[in-house]
Amino acid sequence: KRRQRFRRQLIAWYAAHQRDLPWRRLADPYAVWISEIMLQQTVVAAVIPYFEKFQDRFPDVHALASADESEVLQHWEGLGYYSRARNIHKAAKIVSNELQGEFPQTVEGLEKLPGIGRYTAGAICSFAYDRRAPIVEANTLRLYSRLIGLEEDPRSKAGQNQLWEFADLILPRKSPGDFNQALMDLGSLVCTPQNPDCGACPVSAGCEAFLSQRQHLIPRPKAR
Ligand code: ADE
Repeated sequence: KRRQRFRRQLIAWYAAHQRDLPWRRLADPYAVWISEIMLQQTVVAAVIPYFEKFQDRFPDVHALASADESEVLQHWEGLGYYSRARNIHKAAKIVSNELQGEFPQTVEGLEKLPGIGRYTAGAICSFAYDRRAPIVEANTLRLYSRLIGLEEDPRSKAGQNQLWEFADLILPRKSPGDFNQALMDLGSLVCTPQNPDCGACPVSAGCEAFLSQRQHLIPRPKAR
């Protein structure tokens, strides 16, 4: 019951507040993959022009696989973390040359490719194939930590286990891709790192951190 109410409220909020992002219009594993890799250490506004130029020059996995690495790196210039670009080039060659251009459709299959971890695999599976695959990245980590009132360090083994378990538990069978996008938007637009806007949150009534007024203490900051 509680889970169903949570889902209903999140979906209604998303219908009114969702962001229009260029990669969301393409239910294409290649576009989802490139955008998610770019978004790993870079904010959305900075990614958009890079994503569009990259898609123009390398419109599919074969175009990317057959390009010189130097040209791929050149299109990455300014984004930083160049190992990401080298890994996507390597992965593109595997998909193009060994998998007939078809991306794996399972988390396990996707995770075998260079640079694709559990989060990116879940994002590709859910956004591109609308499969029921959970996601935990920066925005959803913060959101889930607050919803469940996570006391542990969210980056610890125990914390990660609880977060992935929660991500799996709340994900519906119907339209899991949209649901994951909605969670990500709620995390980045409302459940912000500083001063989360709990008054605008559709699910605050079920949020452990909000109910105990500990939203500024959760997630526990990185040990330093
Ligand atoms: N950050 C990481 N992935 C994202 C996505 N698909 N949409 C918006 N922000 C993101």
